[in-house]
Amino acid sequence: MNRIKIIDLLKSTDFDKAVIVKGWIRNKRFSKNVAFIALNDGSTINNVQIVINNPEDELISKCTVGASLSVEGKWVQSQGSKQAGEVAADKVEILGLADPDAYPLQPKKHSLEFLREIAHLRFRTNTFGAIFRVRHAMAFAIHKFFNDKGFVYINTPLITASDAEGAGAMFKVTTLDIDNPPRNEEGKVDYKQDFFGRDTKLTVSGQLEGELAATALSEIYTFGPTFRAEVSNTTRHLAEFWMIEPEMAFYDINDNMDLAEEMLKYLIKYALDNCASDLEFLNNRLIEEEKTKPVNERSGMTLIEKLNFVISNPFARINYTEAIDILQNSNHNKKKKFKYPIDKWGIDLQSEHERYLVEHHFKSPVIVTGYPKEIKAFYMKLNDDNKTVKAMDVLFPQIGEIIGGSEREADYNKLVTRMREMGVPEKQMSWYLDTRRFGSVPHSGYGLGFERLILFVTGMSNIRDVIPFPRTPGNAEF
Ligand code: 4AD
Ligand code: MG
Repeated sequence: MNRIKIIDLLKSTDFDKAVIVKGWIRNKRFSKNVAFIALNDGSTINNVQIVINNPEDELISKCTVGASLSVEGKWVQSQGSKQAGEVAADKVEILGLADPDAYPLQPKKHSLEFLREIAHLRFRTNTFGAIFRVRHAMAFAIHKFFNDKGFVYINTPLITASDAEGAGAMFKVTTLDIDNPPRNEEGKVDYKQDFFGRDTKLTVSGQLEGELAATALSEIYTFGPTFRAEVSNTTRHLAEFWMIEPEMAFYDINDNMDLAEEMLKYLIKYALDNCASDLEFLNNRLIEEEKTKPVNERSGMTLIEKLNFVISNPFARINYTEAIDILQNSNHNKKKKFKYPIDKWGIDLQSEHERYLVEHHFKSPVIVTGYPKEIKAFYMKLNDDNKTVKAMDVLFPQIGEIIGGSEREADYNKLVTRMREMGVPEKQMSWYLDTRRFGSVPHSGYGLGFERLILFVTGMSNIRDVIPFPRTPGNAEF
């Protein structure tokens, strides 16, 4: 007889049939002559109830929270109203004990901070089980979305010799002895002797290589880890995060915005359609969490209402200049409630400004385009005003920027001019410039921060809680 997964068993109405289930004890209750065990195998948020009649004392003492079991028994209709069926156990085998004095997870609410310290065990909680099932579903849905549209999945390198975009500090990759590196005649570290014969780093983005593929395969996407060594200890930044970067030949900035909006709505709808019990759990979790906040900080909508709202309303689309006007004239700005006051055109938007536009002004996701060229990357297409670029940031409630992208500068001369102005080494990037030298086409793309998407869909508020093993300044445990 084969093991049946709990998710399938709970749907079964095939009562009085023999079954084998395996999993970990989440909870237990003993009464006279009978033991009730809540068993979970991670296939669903829901536990199956195991009923053991006349259990031996030794078995009871070993059935502690966290221990793993294999149970043979009969799937029977339940007396209780909470579940349709339960397993009447004939044979219970303990696969692994969990010393109750040492096992840190008990059937009670643990704080997220505490669980972060035991990230190796937090998969075993309802909250993290739900989050990582949703994360999986979103990864799958991303591949499905692009595959159904005929996009080609491209793996771009993680080790790179180019600083793609000046997107921030990079991690060095080297096999040199850092205590005693070889030096050249000028006394500088001699990277010619390093593994790759040059100075290499972990990539901040797969975009530039993605453009090489898109200018032949037309529509591609990447989905991989990226690395940024900025010391930004916020609830929205990781040093190692996953990014999805589609890149499309023949798309202008409007096509790019349309695709980004369609993709986000598709992904959120996919979660609503396929992760119902996990989202219901996360929805209730958030309702409880909101109750602990001051009334003025509570969100007016539940998680599921928020997700439904986003899929059923168009995103607002404005340009940077309009955004600055709105922010500068807002009461919030006049009352000096922004940490970074808006005093002039040209400044970069901070997350507090992005969230103000989304949460207070438009009350919907917002796509901002036409940013000043000075605050954006060299490859973005210059507008006719010579001042702004065809950039787009998609801003979401609670998150701020979830997507950053642009139409790319397809004109060789204009691109080289921007590179010189911004100090991007032309020679080192000749492979990139070749796309503009041979059969250049209008093209566009964007990057979706995968963990920021998961934050939004799960309603969690700290990015460390939506990636299994977060990498942040000072933290590379596990
Ligand atoms: O806006 P960014 O820096 O854009 C790029 O890297 C472009 N190459 C994308 C492209 O056009 N192909 O990053 C894209 C997204 C951000 O909008 C954000 O969601 C996420 O990546 N992101 C981070 N997520 C977690 N931790 C960080 N440190 C992040 N930095 C960016
Ligand atoms: Mg950005």
